[in-house]
Amino acid sequence: MTKYIGILTAGGDSPGLNAAIRGVGKAAQGYYDMQMIGFMDGFRGLVDNRTTRLDGGVLSGILTQGGTILGTSRDKPHRMMFAGKKQDMTDVIVENYAANHLDALVCLGGGGTQKNALQLMEKGLNIITLPKTIDNDVGKTDTTFGFDTALGIATEAIDRLHSTAHSHHRIIVVEIMGHRAGWLALGAGIAGGADVILLPEIPYDIENVAEAIRTRVRSGKNFSIVAVAEGALPKDQAVLMRAAEARKAAAVEKKERKSAKKELEMLQAANSSHTVTLSQQLEALTGLESRVTILGHLQRGGTPSAADRLLATRLGTACADLIEQGEFGIMVAARGELAVPVPLQEVAGSKKLVPMDHPWVESARRVGTSFGD
Ligand code: F6P
Repeated sequence: MTKYIGILTAGGDSPGLNAAIRGVGKAAQGYYDMQMIGFMDGFRGLVDNRTTRLDGGVLSGILTQGGTILGTSRDKPHRMMFAGKKQDMTDVIVENYAANHLDALVCLGGGGTQKNALQLMEKGLNIITLPKTIDNDVGKTDTTFGFDTALGIATEAIDRLHSTAHSHHRIIVVEIMGHRAGWLALGAGIAGGADVILLPEIPYDIENVAEAIRTRVRSGKNFSIVAVAEGALPKDQAVLMRAAEARKAAAVEKKERKSAKKELEMLQAANSSHTVTLSQQLEALTGLESRVTILGHLQRGGTPSAADRLLATRLGTACADLIEQGEFGIMVAARGELAVPVPLQEVAGSKKLVPMDHPWVESARRVGTSFGD
């Protein structure tokens, strides 16, 4: 019997999504004789039942394309703006899954998508997911596709900033994506030879950052590159932020959770322009001129790297194998050279942050990089 599968991409886009759609689709349809349709714009398209055919030539020529041919959104099934208010749309999703005669639904996404996928699995749908995000913060997988491409872009940016910082004897503070996880800033900071790397996981003291730069000046290096993750925090702010997060996680009543969430949002908003503040503080504390470069969405755009195309194709084709074997309720994780199924219950909520003693951190310290701690 022919199997019918649906596929969608959710959350922030990531280079390699099209390679993954192609990997799943070509293996499922060309190799296993299944039929595959796409849902547009993440879970939103599943609610609206906006579908697109993914047969014939549609999957050809997309391997090298950035973004996602299916479109994406950050809509969550259980809390979606619909008819002017936030509603739980999971029952509509279950209906549309049945109306399309699906045997399985493939969801490509980051940490949030893994949680949403688990909820749909609990509603009885056959769900299988793939891990994508430039943040590399999905647990239970070695890595996620998108990360390698973004790492290359951010590293090249740091390389280019070096020569201008050097010529003008300036500090350049370069902001790299990652609100809660600092993998990208850490990886690009090391690969690009940043002098200071600031991460959400390692709160900094501005005096220590300034002293690292002054030490360089004393040794004749009157320029510095500071790679800072979006979510990096000074120590005092970090204490407040982590306390609010803990309160939100521990809240039993809705009212309590709402107030902790509000407090967290206020702290995040207050920290939103921290890179500019950091640059101004460093200028005042070191006497060097300082400039800010925010890499932003450049890091998510354009052609995926060879490593991401390879990873997305490996995980995508393994996904089709697992559907054929009838394995659901899982994420297809990268483990060394293998692609292994991991139960969604284990994946959901298992955010992978940078451990303080991670080998990358240790290695950076050995070459004299300051974390401002
Ligand atoms: O989750 C991936 C990510 O790129 C984060 O690193 C970044 O903070 C966020 O998305 C930006 O989101 P948006 O594209 O919605 O502005």
